[in-house]
Amino acid sequence: MSPSKSGSSPQAGWRNPLRDSRDKRLPRIAGPSGLVIFGVTGDLARKKLLPAMYDLANRGLLPPGFSCIGFGRRDWSHEEFTDYVRRAVEEGARTEFNATVWERLAEGFIFVTGSFDDDKAFDTLAETMSRCDQDRGTAGNWAFYLSIPPDSFSAVCHQLQRAQLAEAPEGAWRRVIIEKPFGHDLESAKALNATVNAVFDEDSVFRIDHYLGKETVQNILALRFANQLFDPLWNAHYVDHVQITMAEDMGLGGRAGYYDGIGAARDVIQNHLLQLLALVAMEEPISLTPTELQTEKIKVLRATTPVAPLAKTTARGQYTAGWQGSVPVVGLTEEEGFDPASKTETFAACTLSVNTRRWAGVPFYLRTGKRLGRRVTEIAIVFKRALHEPFADTMTGALGNNAVVIRVQPDEGVLMRFGSKIPGSAMEVRDVNMDFSYSEAFTEQSPEAYERLILDALLDESSLFPTNEEVELSWQILDPILHYWAEHGAPEQYKAGTWGPKSADRMLARDGRAWRRP
Ligand code: BG6
Repeated sequence: MSPSKSGSSPQAGWRNPLRDSRDKRLPRIAGPSGLVIFGVTGDLARKKLLPAMYDLANRGLLPPGFSCIGFGRRDWSHEEFTDYVRRAVEEGARTEFNATVWERLAEGFIFVTGSFDDDKAFDTLAETMSRCDQDRGTAGNWAFYLSIPPDSFSAVCHQLQRAQLAEAPEGAWRRVIIEKPFGHDLESAKALNATVNAVFDEDSVFRIDHYLGKETVQNILALRFANQLFDPLWNAHYVDHVQITMAEDMGLGGRAGYYDGIGAARDVIQNHLLQLLALVAMEEPISLTPTELQTEKIKVLRATTPVAPLAKTTARGQYTAGWQGSVPVVGLTEEEGFDPASKTETFAACTLSVNTRRWAGVPFYLRTGKRLGRRVTEIAIVFKRALHEPFADTMTGALGNNAVVIRVQPDEGVLMRFGSKIPGSAMEVRDVNMDFSYSEAFTEQSPEAYERLILDALLDESSLFPTNEEVELSWQILDPILHYWAEHGAPEQYKAGTWGPKSADRMLARDGRAWRRP
């Protein structure tokens, strides 16, 4: 491409994918529609979905007649349901409580009592939806949110089909939003996708990976493709390795039912971390339309494989009693509901390679764990050392590798680490940080991931939702590691409040590298 004549306008023929996409996105207010939540009495609905809906309404992003039907076994009246929603909103909403917004929203909250095998309850649901279409102007446009265990997907999809709810009337739409886990291996993911796709076209399926709804995760695209600064270095010639860390300080109290037997790799690496890897490693999409983005992510996932030998390139651990700050905490097997003999890993790490020209030979180290030193999610692009350094060794003794660190959370931002001269008469160089922080640079508050994703689903904007192919490819990457672990003993123990098992450190040490201490 040749530079433009003025030298200041974009180069001829060059299209900024971010701008193209932004133009198409305006206005971002949902049209007439409603949401049915299965599993409305569960944790996710209470902590995330209901508060997110209120925040969307408060920001003026939901249509005036928006309706939300909660489906569950409780025998709740309208008042009992709205009281429950109000409590959830008061506890979890991020915007201030506004009585007028709340009252208008609450009119559209309706509860339908029933279980998933109850034909009558689904007939009542159908009547309720069509009453909303007539009285509240939802216009036949409905999304079904399956905030339920995957083994119930089949029953619900079957009921929606039987009650003719999955098919939209002329000119309207029906969509299904589903929560992970999308299976526990490739085979079960395929079966689950087949169940859902038998009732809903893939275009109508929105799989939630809430990491994709995070502002900082979307900023990976801005950082890489709206700037000239990074791309020339973003490849195997300059990058030594990439570290993707998602560390949590909390344990698993109260989540045994979901987590025991699942473990950290299935819970987090299969979805959040592989999506982060795909965004970091993919080529520039020709636009930010869902298809173009997904095409590039799929190419990366297809090219990604675990590095052998798995005994040395992976690590897993389980936390034992220890300290979280100054608070004593119990180990996983003492947590309520966990089998004392549980082999479930609460820490997982692996080494992957992305077998493309851009990334050949660059290891991607992924790790995640519960009860680690602190809560932090970050992606560190660690660069090779300069090919030649005209300094004596003593001058650069305190100099590490340059790095660009995308801090996904908390303290959202981007950090650049490079060498600088220590003030003084001697020439000594050590690492310094240049830090961009969202909270200092912007006054706007980032929307919560679920707000963004619910709104996108209502708007039929599917860029931030993994497709069935992405889900299956992610399992294909992880399955060999899971099989290897299943055949090779139990996870190594690590003390709560530390940075995981020793084998995770050895995993990098064998390559002459070390984890960043975030
Ligand atoms: C979920 C996992 O997907 O992400 C949880 O199932 C984890 O185990 C959670 O705690 C972390 O999300 P966040 O947004 O707090 O980083």
